[in-house]
Amino acid sequence: MTDAPNPVLCAIDTPAMEMAVKLTGELARWVGGFKLGLEFFGANGPEGIRAIARTGAPICLDLKLHDIPNTVAGAVKALVPLQPALITVHASGGRAMLAAAAAAAKEAANSHDLPRPRLLGVTVMTSLDEADLRDIGQDPLPGSQVDRLAFLCQDAGLDGVVCSALEIERLRRRFGRSFLLMVPGVRPDWTTQDDQKRITTPAEARRLGADYLVIGRPITRATDPAAAAKRIAKELEAAQV
Ligand code: C5P
Repeated sequence: MTDAPNPVLCAIDTPAMEMAVKLTGELARWVGGFKLGLEFFGANGPEGIRAIARTGAPICLDLKLHDIPNTVAGAVKALVPLQPALITVHASGGRAMLAAAAAAAKEAANSHDLPRPRLLGVTVMTSLDEADLRDIGQDPLPGSQVDRLAFLCQDAGLDGVVCSALEIERLRRRFGRSFLLMVPGVRPDWTTQDDQKRITTPAEARRLGADYLVIGRPITRATDPAAAAKRIAKELEAAQV
């Protein structure tokens, strides 16, 4: 057995507030938190976030902010009162934007006397292949682009990055134990792959060094979502990771 907190962030990708509140209420004891993205936020706004936060589970606000530094800083300040544990920003927004986001999180948390949300930089979207990266003028080797952006995130004062399972081991070695790694594309071996191409099991992702495992549909679309979340939690416990 391990005392590690549950690393699973369940992705609640729906605009339907009532369904999300019911689902998160059932799941809260079996997951480490909920990841709420643009679909849920666009439909339900801050009130929707507050409703899910009432489950008591930590929230990752996955809004992938990317704008000029002043605007991103303002957005982070506006989000801090919602008390998210994690907020995502695009690493490719550049050093000044990342530093402004990190400073804004600190400042707003201090001024509201709230815990500081951890900021994670989105490195390379796994939906982009080498040709896509070339199209937008980026290093066509996703690995080296991820390394470069992860370094920038750490240097600019972010707490960690979002990366694919392929990158966990290398980033963990390079950036140390305290740099947070959040990993989507995680699938237990008893569920379907959906549209995820490169998948890793929860235990394997943890063994490689991931801090947070983003798992959506294997839980939310299961016949019994709470049972699926419980099974994942028990498997992680049994693997002692
Ligand atoms: O349902 P599933 O487990 O595939 O959900 C994964 C979640 O992680 C979704 O919210 C998706 O947008 C997000 N995500 C991803 N791959 C990335 C980045 C984010 O699947 N590279």
